[in-house]
Amino acid sequence: MRSIYLTGFMGAGKTSIGHALGEKLGLSVYDTDSLIEEKMDESISDYFAKYGEEDFRRLEGKVLLSLPVTDSVIMTGGGIIKRADNISWMKENGLMVFLYCDMEVVLQRLENDITRPLIQEKNKEEIKALFSERLPLYKKAHITVDTSSLSVNEAAEKVAVAIKSWHSGQH
Ligand code: S3P
Repeated sequence: MRSIYLTGFMGAGKTSIGHALGEKLGLSVYDTDSLIEEKMDESISDYFAKYGEEDFRRLEGKVLLSLPVTDSVIMTGGGIIKRADNISWMKENGLMVFLYCDMEVVLQRLENDITRPLIQEKNKEEIKALFSERLPLYKKAHITVDTSSLSVNEAAEKVAVAIKSWHSGQH
């Protein structure tokens, strides 16, 4: 089975849903942000502060390309779609899934977050604007799943069903 790439905005639940999905489908699980942190032995915030976003994006792209294209669930950072090459890679090698989540839910989850450098200086309107700017890129995914009002397990189940139905539509 082709790998499943989970994409979506910060706070959409990619990491927790990804773990639940991996368990449900019996697939290996990888998280690009965690892999970057392990590789560099520092937090994403520290990495951004030291080297900036451009360097982070280069590293993120490299990590993406290094991950298996079969039998895996790959959770990506919210900005992975900023590079067209990353979108092409995910679509050509696997199944790209967009985890949509209402902005009100996202904003609530991000309210006291100090781990995501790109929102530290932004107010709610600016965060919403960033989401709107990125939305057309997320929409390039093969599948969109709205997880707004769902628990982690319900969301993972909904994604699993959507993937199954996408695969059956391919034949
Ligand atoms: C980012 C999202 C973060 C992380 C970094 C940049 C973004 O990942 O990769 O802070 O540009 O949206 P999450 O989506 O897991 O928060």
